[in-house]
Amino acid sequence: MTYRIAPSILSADFARLGQEVQSVIAAGADWIHFDVMDNHYVPNLTFGPMVCQALKPHAKTAAGQAVPIDVHLMVQPVDALAAAFAQAGADLISFHPDASGHVHRSIQAIKAQGVQAGLVFNPAQPLDVLDWVIEDIDLILIMSVNPGFGGQGFIDSALRKVEAARQRIRASGKDIRLEVDGGIKVDNIRRVADAGADTFVAGSAIFGKPDYKAVVDQMRAALAA
Ligand code: DX5
Ligand code: ZN
Repeated sequence: MTYRIAPSILSADFARLGQEVQSVIAAGADWIHFDVMDNHYVPNLTFGPMVCQALKPHAKTAAGQAVPIDVHLMVQPVDALAAAFAQAGADLISFHPDASGHVHRSIQAIKAQGVQAGLVFNPAQPLDVLDWVIEDIDLILIMSVNPGFGGQGFIDSALRKVEAARQRIRASGKDIRLEVDGGIKVDNIRRVADAGADTFVAGSAIFGKPDYKAVVDQMRAALAA
């Protein structure tokens, strides 16, 4: 299993975002998780496609290797902003199916831009829509907190949902990433991996500590144990 750690820049220093992206990549980030909030679908407001575009040149390793930008849309409606993020350099775009009037159309609109598409499931949201669209997506993102804010506590029922999502991925026979978002720390990341996740968003756990690399290394050690 290839595990990926996706630091959420929601908890970074917004006055120094470019440097923060570079620092967390130097610390070993596999993806940059980019939380887009619209003060409508969620009660908070963050950043839009112009900020993504500005960060794109910073999303690479010291050796020049591009690091994927993983855009998590917490917006309603979905399609116009998804297209704008594709233009702004997003590598993956995920949206909440309950925020789209036409989930299949939104997925196709993202893929038509040459970007990978994902679906995000809130803590109380069932996975049923996957019955009809799992063949079309590249990523499933399970929320282990209610979307809108960093620094919340992990909701344990997410583990059962991760298990259920992993079963669906297996049954599909497709190579689909299974990402979990919210409340992930060094001391619970192993449990989340054991439930079947392969990609881990972590905001406050990483940006809340002075030494990002120490945290990423501890997470990898926990995953390897
Ligand atoms: C919440 C966001 C998360 C958030 C996670 O709506 O989707 O990505 O940044 O933050 P932590 O890791 O602090 O729970
Ligand atoms: Zn997120």
